[in-house]
Amino acid sequence: MALSKMEDFKFDGKERIPVDYVKGIMQTIPTCNIWDQIWNFQAKSDDLLIATYPKAGTTWTQEIVDLIQNEGDVDKSQRAPTYIRFPFIEWIVPSMRSGLEQAKQMPSPRTLKTHLPIQLLPPSFLEKNCKIIYVARNPKDNMVSYYHFQRMNKALPAPGTWEEYFESFLAGKVCWGSWHDHVKGWWKAKDQHRIVYLFYEDLKKNPKQEIQKLAEFIGKNLDHEVLDKILHHTSFDVMKQNSMANYSSIPTEIMNHSVSPFMRKGTVGDWKNHFTVAQNERFDEDYKKKMADSSLTFHFQF
Ligand code: A3P
Repeated sequence: MALSKMEDFKFDGKERIPVDYVKGIMQTIPTCNIWDQIWNFQAKSDDLLIATYPKAGTTWTQEIVDLIQNEGDVDKSQRAPTYIRFPFIEWIVPSMRSGLEQAKQMPSPRTLKTHLPIQLLPPSFLEKNCKIIYVARNPKDNMVSYYHFQRMNKALPAPGTWEEYFESFLAGKVCWGSWHDHVKGWWKAKDQHRIVYLFYEDLKKNPKQEIQKLAEFIGKNLDHEVLDKILHHTSFDVMKQNSMANYSSIPTEIMNHSVSPFMRKGTVGDWKNHFTVAQNERFDEDYKKKMADSSLTFHFQF
């Protein structure tokens, strides 16, 4: 039986993690086939890592970060699609270069992507004191976004009906595991490591302030003109038209945007169009229990 809860076993962060535990979190993602290589990945001290639970605003953050690094130069940020510019360390697709290989071949300084929960993060990232950007999104919108993503993305399991998906998400039986464990784990880690912890909803509400925060964290002093340019190029409408950021270059057999576009709505509160009253009550009750042990619980308003 696959393990899935952090409490299911004890480890000190260096011990080998049982593959069954990895499988319990990653589900059908074949990461555990090369788990030793992932766990032993050698981060470099000048690596920057963008970590998120899937559908929390990863691509948006990647675009912002790239434009900050390139001081607002849009041509540079359009040099390649997102998935080439940012190696996705645990990602493997048959017949494609794995995220690990991509990362190894990339010159430093590298900016990498992961959806791994903190307890599965290769230890070298923390040992090397790498800068890490974590972005969390309120779980109801996150769930809705993930459901539609699984409908359009053949690399992930079909989500089933909305009702079935709702139950799978609450049970943490989706790829990359429980949303609750993910956001809490990284939240706890942020006080001991170089982690800036952002929220999708803050990015929506006050994007310029959050972009400025990211620029400071990355160590770039950008003037207002550049910040405004970044703000414009990372707006939902502009990114939706940007073929280097909207995943339109992935073959339709894998990502079918006519089922649901990758750049779908980009809003806060779309869950209200999906949750029934009964689902909402059930969600809130479950949320209270699972989040009771974390101060993060108060950060999400719904
Ligand atoms: P929706 O499905 O709710 O529209 P990720 O990059 O982690 O896969 O997250 C994808 C989600 O972020 C999608 O949410 C997508 O529309 C949203 N998104 C991407 N770029 C955005 C932007 N510039 N502004 C707001 N939301 C954005």
